[in-house]
Amino acid sequence: MKTFQSRLADPAAVSPSDTRHVQRLDVAGMRCEFPALRDSFVHLDGTAGTQVPRSVAAAIAETMSAAMSHGGTLTAAGRTAHAAVRAARSAIGDLVGAQPEGVIFGRNMTEMTFGMARTIAKTWRPGDEVVVCRLDHAANIAPWVLEADRAGATVRWIDFDTETGDITLDDVTAALSDRTRLVAMTAASNVLGTRPAIEQMAAAIHAAGALLYLDGVALTPHAPVDVTTCGADFFALSTHKVFGPHCAAVVARPALLEELSPDRLPCTPDSVPGRFELGTPSYEVLAGVRAMVDYLASLAGDTHQSRRARVLHAMGLIEEHEKVLRTRLVEGITSLRGVRVHGRPRLCTPTTLLSVVGTPPRALAEFLAERGIGVSVGTFHAEEATRALGLGPEGAIRVGPVAYNTTADIDAVVDAVGRFARAQ
Ligand SMILES: Cc1ncc(COP(=O)(O)O)c(C=O)c1O
Repeated sequence: MKTFQSRLADPAAVSPSDTRHVQRLDVAGMRCEFPALRDSFVHLDGTAGTQVPRSVAAAIAETMSAAMSHGGTLTAAGRTAHAAVRAARSAIGDLVGAQPEGVIFGRNMTEMTFGMARTIAKTWRPGDEVVVCRLDHAANIAPWVLEADRAGATVRWIDFDTETGDITLDDVTAALSDRTRLVAMTAASNVLGTRPAIEQMAAAIHAAGALLYLDGVALTPHAPVDVTTCGADFFALSTHKVFGPHCAAVVARPALLEELSPDRLPCTPDSVPGRFELGTPSYEVLAGVRAMVDYLASLAGDTHQSRRARVLHAMGLIEEHEKVLRTRLVEGITSLRGVRVHGRPRLCTPTTLLSVVGTPPRALAEFLAERGIGVSVGTFHAEEATRALGLGPEGAIRVGPVAYNTTADIDAVVDAVGRFARAQ
């Protein structure tokens, strides 16, 4: 009988020299840059957070070893700190196609979204409507529901197809009215990988006169992003999911930020985006964010183009590589008796949710961890989605490949899940 591995072509195998016709992501070269990937452990929990390349860790260490003071212009140390902030804004601008003046930094997406919701909701009134999406991470639901309650606004929900995991344009328009002030939805699900057709949906949302707050946390590591083309008014991302340090950014048009008035100290600068950032920034982390985007750009190979062009190229290579990983993973898992893959979205990231029928997911996660394979288990702060999928509080297993994963990693997890399922 043919083994699972031999039945599948292996275009994403580690072969850096294979550049015959189409440029492919140099996964082997990439892996050498990640100190955490030196041992044989298989990291397939990238949706929760990625490992970092040496250059990111070095940028943080160098910034902390250099003379550093509060950002300012008086001393070299102050100028270094200021420069780290400016460089990070410009880097995130290049990552998602935004103006640096529209890039706000914060500790993580959850905290930032609570802050943005508090600010944006200041003009909401009873009778206004706010739309959230059942497929989203709680970080893009709870802050909006809380603020809607405070303002006396009505919350409406976008549902998704629990068989496929897809959200249609009709699902979105059904939730809109002329009272809709804001739609909060995901650019990619952190449980099913679903990538809704955001451009189309943004047009409908804007036609209804509402703003779109897009959770880009689970999309940014997997595909080229252009915040202008996709129509997001606000785009949130976490750099710890994109080979960077623990940090987050919310990106918006500077003119839109000018209209908003966040709570702040009397002495906080009035200019944007600074008025949204409270207290002292984490300069060393921002140096790591800049290094993260430089690293992504370096994956494109070509050093003659702008960083933005190289980032787009590199993210396209990552997207292609991950499509191969996802196909191999889903084909492998669905060939196993008693194992179920949840959802089959038309367009998705490689994030894949699975269950072994009749077995607690934690038992499988432990079995995999004992065999050197890291996956995630639980409901992943997406309880609205996992409940709609019929999963209990124990949730399911999430396999979250990212760019540095190989087909060998996928084969390892498929084989181990198969062994576990057969033993039940
Ligand atoms: C889709 C999505 N949105 C939001 C978040 C929250 O991000 P953070 O950890 O930066 O608060 C996560 C984290 O897993 C996520 O996957």
